[in-house]
Amino acid sequence: MRDVAVIGVGMNRWGELWEKSYRDIWTEAALEAISDAGVDHVDALYVGCMSGGLFMGQEHLGAALADQLGMGPIPATRVESACASGGLAFREAYLAVASGEHDVVLASGVEKMTDVDGAAATYALSTAADQEYECYQGITFPGLYALMARLHMHRYGTTREQLAEVAVKNHRHGALNPLAQFQFSVTAKQVAESVLVADPLRLLDCSPITDGAAAVVVVPASMAGARHPAVRVAASAAATDTLALHDRDDLCWLKSTDVAARKACAQAGITPADLSFCEVHDCFTIAEILVTEALGLAERGRGGAAAASGETALGGRIPVNPSGGLKAKGHPVGATGIAQIREAVLQLRGEAGERQVKDPKWGLTQNMGGTGASSVVHIFRRG
Ligand code: COA
Repeated sequence: MRDVAVIGVGMNRWGELWEKSYRDIWTEAALEAISDAGVDHVDALYVGCMSGGLFMGQEHLGAALADQLGMGPIPATRVESACASGGLAFREAYLAVASGEHDVVLASGVEKMTDVDGAAATYALSTAADQEYECYQGITFPGLYALMARLHMHRYGTTREQLAEVAVKNHRHGALNPLAQFQFSVTAKQVAESVLVADPLRLLDCSPITDGAAAVVVVPASMAGARHPAVRVAASAAATDTLALHDRDDLCWLKSTDVAARKACAQAGITPADLSFCEVHDCFTIAEILVTEALGLAERGRGGAAAASGETALGGRIPVNPSGGLKAKGHPVGATGIAQIREAVLQLRGEAGERQVKDPKWGLTQNMGGTGASSVVHIFRRG
């Protein structure tokens, strides 16, 4: 396998973009990544998208976007793993370059979620859960994560205030990110008093419905050149778990993230203590707590306490979600995993502006589908 580097990144401003189509926002991100990389073509493209059909009535995105880029007849592949579609699209691009199949590959993600109403968006998202055993009972994703939150609170003493601190931190970080959907801070009191969505989760515990795209260019490390500080892909790993929550050994443990992260750390030859920062899948505040535990950044049951103590904030022991995370940056599901990688690359290049982590060497991204039925973990290294 060849060493692989990321040499270009792009992303549009995320939010409710009614005046733009999925083609517009994807093209903005893709052209920015290609221009940032300084290349004039790509050999192949991968696009992560969870549900083009249900959100905008459009499937067959690989061919559509290769044509949009004016680069047909390159091979183009749409990748789907629910909210982990972007992370998995990047992994496919990485494998295509590492194996020698292609030299210059565009890994991208897009989701246009606001062209349907809230009920239709909730239905589209729910297709990532078990239709026959979970959705049939009427449960939604906020509902599923609420079950996990309740058990965590009951078993480990995690508090409503600790959940809120995750949102406070990620909104504070998002306020420093000019492309984030929400660029404002919130207080713990505002989170705890925001409208109830699925007890104990409130509006400000949830990631929003978002239109957005992101793209990165992947090449063999030998082709990276000196245009930017080098960022290598040190590890790529994916794992799965049961689709339905009730089939899990432990509702409060993200096995797919644990397994993928262990594999990734072994590939990179590091331990979680070596990481300088992480971009993780905080689709709900409880999700970030569970992920920090599964990644080994906090002891089991202590994810809430770690967030409340400031350990996971910018300037803390291990900054988590310097971009603002899904909570504040937004969560256009298929694009999320690629945007996490864009953030990791900017951080490692030292180009993250006001939200720059001090002198980072190793960065990890964790992108997850459903309630953790699929997880993709990547580790990036400066130099
Ligand atoms: N965080 C902060 N503010 C939010 C928000 C969020 N998650 N979601 C919506 N808002 C704001 C909107 O910007 C809007 O503000 P405005 O009145 O100033 O314009 C207001 O709240 C109402 O927005 P609306 O779109 O009507 O909210 P909604 O009630 O339809 O949807 C949720 C709110 C939480 C139900 C929706 O965002 C949601 O389903 N989130 C979870 C998404 C999800 O499950 N993703 C997959 C995870 S696995």
